[in-house]
Amino acid sequence: MGKDRSSHVLFFPVPSQGHMNPMIKLAELLALAGFRITFLNTHHNHERLLRFTNMAAYFERYSGFELGTITDGLPQDHPRSGHWFPAMFEDATAMKIKQSLRDMLVNVSPPVDCMIVDAFLGFALDVARELGIPIVCFRTSSPCCFWTSYSIPDMIRAGELPINGNEDMDRLITTVPGMETHFRCRDLPSYCRAPDMEDSFIKLIVKQTRKSAEADALILNTAEELDGPILSQIRTQCPIVYAIGPINALLKSRVNAKHGESYHHFSNTLLEEDKSCVSWLDKQPNRSVTYACFGSLTSMSREQLIELWYGLVNSKSNFLLVVRPNSVIGKDGEGDDVVNELFDKTKDRGYIVDWAPQEAVLNHPAVGGFLTHSGWNSTLEGVVAGVPMICWPYFADQQVNSRVVSEVWKIGLDMKDVCDRKIVEKMVNDVMVDRKEEFAKSAAEMSKLTYQSVSVGGSSYSNLDRLIEDIREMSL
Ligand code: UDX
Repeated sequence: MGKDRSSHVLFFPVPSQGHMNPMIKLAELLALAGFRITFLNTHHNHERLLRFTNMAAYFERYSGFELGTITDGLPQDHPRSGHWFPAMFEDATAMKIKQSLRDMLVNVSPPVDCMIVDAFLGFALDVARELGIPIVCFRTSSPCCFWTSYSIPDMIRAGELPINGNEDMDRLITTVPGMETHFRCRDLPSYCRAPDMEDSFIKLIVKQTRKSAEADALILNTAEELDGPILSQIRTQCPIVYAIGPINALLKSRVNAKHGESYHHFSNTLLEEDKSCVSWLDKQPNRSVTYACFGSLTSMSREQLIELWYGLVNSKSNFLLVVRPNSVIGKDGEGDDVVNELFDKTKDRGYIVDWAPQEAVLNHPAVGGFLTHSGWNSTLEGVVAGVPMICWPYFADQQVNSRVVSEVWKIGLDMKDVCDRKIVEKMVNDVMVDRKEEFAKSAAEMSKLTYQSVSVGGSSYSNLDRLIEDIREMSL
């Protein structure tokens, strides 16, 4: 390989839980394969990671695993709450981060041999090209979302976008190859609903998506068995695509193979996990609980929370509900008091926490259904755990993901564009009681497929081997 040291790979995720989780898992997989790793976090996320996790253990387990920090380009007093990170992509801010990244890469020792960056950080490609460092983009959201976003210019040319005010939202979209049969206007990523295609966010999405396709390769968190037809389409534009998901399952498979089943897995959480909900689950009958959780960015109105809550309370199942602090917005802008009221009324039917150890919860035998916002990580974690889903998509790729869950994989129901207690109740009862066996069977089959893909010789397992070899080649 031309040098007497391990190849040094630099990771740079967008600073949000849903982007960081899969990237840090890939970093661990590469550390396991003997690479030297620098995992870059923004200062703000770095502090939270150290506060809520035992990251020091990474250093003990992998001698060449280091955490680095970088500016997010925003002023110190920026609140960085909710869906704040797109502020990083604005030109002037991106320029500051780009400069810091460049300075870091010029000075780091040993030099970086390959960069794996979030597909939304397009400026990293410019830096990599200037410094002659191979670069691979990791698109952490779903392949269907990547592909529809890539196809936005074609949809505009064909007159399928923009969606006008009186549009039939059930109209099938016909210009996204591979998605002609199941995807309606309402299933496009939420930003496609913008009335004007000159909208700056749409333009940014198209630019970043197309730019990420120019990297040396693209990594997607999925398995060939889950998204085969869409992967074939993406490969017509991005010849080197590594499908190495579900990455949480692949990491477990590889770590267990090396160290045994009892091995401790790391948590990457940016909020404090309330593990008391696992003790509560321990007291519930098998497959009797609906787990309701809406990811790390969703905010909802107090009216929406109340509808979801009544739907759960009126259903025939008990429930575990996660309500993140400051995620409920009342008419007056303050909504968290409603959670305390619900908490008091819920004691005999359910349990409410701020933030859950989600993977442990989904794999708990008491959990029989997942009411989810359909974030891509949550979706895959539900698939791996074999838990049927009731989808209440909120934004971005979630609208596409919920359609995949309900109509392509058929492992759940899609509540899209509705938040009504009667519908929540009906869908929860369908998944938990009336059609329980049907959904449990299809979810178990899908889970089995994912386990096959991450086992020795499986597609994701082999794709990771290929990625490892290719990074070694690129670093020569
Ligand atoms: C959003 C998108 O919808 C997602 O598809 C995109 O790739 C990133 O932005 P987010 O709201 O963070 O993501 O949802 P999701 O992708 O599901 O990620 C949330 C992560 O937080 C999951 O890995 C989940 O296990 C974890 N989580 C969530 C917890 O650990 N505890 C909780 O209580 C809630």
